[in-house]
Amino acid sequence: MASTFPDIPPEASARLAEAAKVAVLTGAGVSAESGIPTFRGQDGLWKDYRAQDLATPGAFSRDPDLVWEWYHWRRGIVTGATPNDAHDALRIMEDRVPEFTLITQNVDGLHVRAGSRNVLELHGNLNRAKCSRCPCTMDLTGETGIVRCPDCGEPMRPDVVWFGESLDPVILETAFRSAATADLFLVAGTSSIVQPAASLAFAAKDNDGYVVEVNMDPTPLTGTADATVLGRAGEILSALVRLAWSEP
Ligand code: OAD
Repeated sequence: MASTFPDIPPEASARLAEAAKVAVLTGAGVSAESGIPTFRGQDGLWKDYRAQDLATPGAFSRDPDLVWEWYHWRRGIVTGATPNDAHDALRIMEDRVPEFTLITQNVDGLHVRAGSRNVLELHGNLNRAKCSRCPCTMDLTGETGIVRCPDCGEPMRPDVVWFGESLDPVILETAFRSAATADLFLVAGTSSIVQPAASLAFAAKDNDGYVVEVNMDPTPLTGTADATVLGRAGEILSALVRLAWSEP
């Protein structure tokens, strides 16, 4: 079969087509083509902003106004954005693979907006707030400033995982189980340096999963992945789907 995207190894698309179980890990690079800034690299958020001032429990107790202002700003970018070809390709993949899990580090909710169904949001969702005192959560829409709990009146916080915090143990365990049992594990648009997400691909590999990486640049995973395809996630994931299911 003639390849419409020569850099994708035929084995990667063939294995995707045959896989009974596929798990995918996505990072900020998958939303980059929707105009959402990544964290690292030339135009990344951590170039202009210090994580310790904005994305830690300590930052929130010191200056909740500032933290909320930053998250409202980021939420505004996400609200104005739309899913791109990478999100769409992953939704199509889910329709074609018998068992499919999409694990994302992204907090923008774009996979769900694109129609993906079995999504594990490892780092939470910035369109949601959770109370710092009671179990309340709330979907955010046009809020500004500090968001208060509708039940107890305490300040709420963005429902995202901050530096120094643990991930939801149930979500994390489900993610590791999906990775460890996947025939094919696809890693797209992540620098593969933030733990524990970065270990998922290794869990897949240790259990004989075939690991495919898609990124603009090589990462610490590149030497371990069975195939690395360098380039834009939107273009490559669309081509991977076309190749796997023999579409023109
Ligand atoms: P990073 O900003 O660390 O990495 C983004 C990766 O995407 C880089 O490796 C880029 O080369 C790649 N990339 C950029 N544009 C791309 C494109 N169009 N197509 C394909 N690849 C592209 O983002 P993450 O790895 O997601 O955590 O960061 C992981 C975590 O670190 C985030 O979830 C966040 C951050 O601190 C928390 O906030 C808890």
